[in-house]
Amino acid sequence: MCGIIGVASKKEQAIPMILQGLKTLEYRGYDSSGIAYFKENQIVITKTKGRISDLEQQINFKETSSLGIGHTRWATHGEANQVNAHPHQVGKITIVHNGIIENYQELKAKLQENGYSFLSSTDTEVACALLDFYYEKTNSVTQAIQAFIHEAKGSYAIGLLCQEEPDTLYAIKKDSPLIVAASNDTNFIASDIPAVLEYTSSYYVLEDEEYAILTKDHITFYDKGGKVLTKEEKHYDASLESPNKGSYPHYMIKEMMEQPDTIWKTMQPFLENGLASLAKLPDLTKYDRIDIVACGTAWHAGLVGKYFLEEYAAIPVDVCLASEYRYKRLFLSPKVLVIFISQSGETADTLAALKRVKEEACHTLGIINVKDSSIARVVDQVIYTKAGCEIAVASTKAFTAQVAILLLLALQAAYQKNLMEEKQVLAVIEEFKHLKDHLTPLLAKRSEYQKIAKELYKQEDIFYLGRGLDYDLMMEGALKLKEISYIPSVCYAAGELKHGTISLVQEETRVIASCTNPLLDPKTMSNLKETKARGAKIYLITNNVELTKDKDIDSVFLLDQTSEFLVPFLVIIPLQFLAYKIALLRQCDIDKPRNLAKAVTVE
Ligand code: M6R
Repeated sequence: MCGIIGVASKKEQAIPMILQGLKTLEYRGYDSSGIAYFKENQIVITKTKGRISDLEQQINFKETSSLGIGHTRWATHGEANQVNAHPHQVGKITIVHNGIIENYQELKAKLQENGYSFLSSTDTEVACALLDFYYEKTNSVTQAIQAFIHEAKGSYAIGLLCQEEPDTLYAIKKDSPLIVAASNDTNFIASDIPAVLEYTSSYYVLEDEEYAILTKDHITFYDKGGKVLTKEEKHYDASLESPNKGSYPHYMIKEMMEQPDTIWKTMQPFLENGLASLAKLPDLTKYDRIDIVACGTAWHAGLVGKYFLEEYAAIPVDVCLASEYRYKRLFLSPKVLVIFISQSGETADTLAALKRVKEEACHTLGIINVKDSSIARVVDQVIYTKAGCEIAVASTKAFTAQVAILLLLALQAAYQKNLMEEKQVLAVIEEFKHLKDHLTPLLAKRSEYQKIAKELYKQEDIFYLGRGLDYDLMMEGALKLKEISYIPSVCYAAGELKHGTISLVQEETRVIASCTNPLLDPKTMSNLKETKARGAKIYLITNNVELTKDKDIDSVFLLDQTSEFLVPFLVIIPLQFLAYKIALLRQCDIDKPRNLAKAVTVE
């Protein structure tokens, strides 16, 4: 989590540049922030609890600097307060850090024995002390960095200043993302490229256990043994970026409204020339089984993918939480494909699971949104979703883009296996091409969502129910609600309710459900009636007009009748809107919900 940035510039503009970068990185963590810069050969540190706007109030903008580092924090070790905020300074070394030093207790004890004492509860202060310890021993920052890489366990992206080198910025990286970027007059380090996109789109990727030395004129890369490395300069395609909210009050609603375009951009390369384009997708029919590995919303997209791959292409699929998969016993072989889904491409658990799978003899496929991200670089093959930059912590357009790719994979595999005829596949492709016509009116029903949100926003809990594909989508709807509105939302497979959870249903309990499968709808409706009999109020999302006539249903969102391949895109829109509108009525910080961060780069 946490965002870091560093600047070595020919101009005296480092302070505003760092603050601007931190604002872009704020989605990575926002409980405290800080900045350190050289001013007349002395390091000045300002840090505070709260947002970048709080930090700005404490900065002396009359001061100028050409070199410094900044940090926006998502607390791992120690509460969010000024002392624990970064940068940390020990002796002659000052650092900002993203990641977790796993052996920090052991290192702390060793450093204490050597006379170091600590002010904060952070692992970062220990990392800083370790670097200072070796610097004092060797009088060389590079030797201190090499010793640090050798001794520190865990993950780190570090920006480092040394009191005795006012013209130099150091960067160190392992298992946390860090890029190095260059413009005409300034060199940067940053957690991601959008943080510096205002100044440059050209960048280099630091790999694990590498470090870099930056001055205003030069950048040099090294491996952990100090050997100079030559790196490929990359160029970021900013055409997909939408770095501001435009006329929208929040990134989340803007990103929701972009979905007709982002789904289409994602699908288009595989649809424009009918079956020939679809054949550009990887051949899944070679595999006996697929494991899909992801976290959070990406995991829900995986569940939707499983439904279509199994139902239409008859390929058995397991969908696994990356945090479990990375430690469980795996049953892999060359006949198993492992698909990793991630918006950020940096999620620590997903990346760790991938690294584990890479040691086995099986193929890996990534469905990733952020180009050249860590996961995208490690998988054997990557398909990029074209959702563009997703800033709101609550994922919306990345989810539908991930689902889009999975649906296309299922469609292609079903066709290859003769489980769908050519004309059926072409009919689905035709429907995808007109998806926008179904989505646009749904996105426009804002007053309907607002009306229901008003009925729900004071609830202490809300139930989400469904069966099959509807259950998968309800899980995503429930996650959206709890994430941004803080209302506990329980999602259950409708048939499972009476095995325990129905005990929670009482007078005025609110139940949101979807019914989009004619075979399962009567079953789900029976379960809904069981809740109604106990006093629940029911809000139904369905494409089945008959169900709208049922007097037990209190409110209905009626969707267009389409092929099942379009259903996930339609069901999810009311769910995203309800979460958004309810959070708005509860006056929550929608784009930056409490305790969360966009990219979860720690375990
Ligand atoms: O970047 P990733 O897709 O790997 O992120 C996975 C989850 O952390 C993410 O989907 C999270 O659940 C979202 N905040 C949900 O809206």
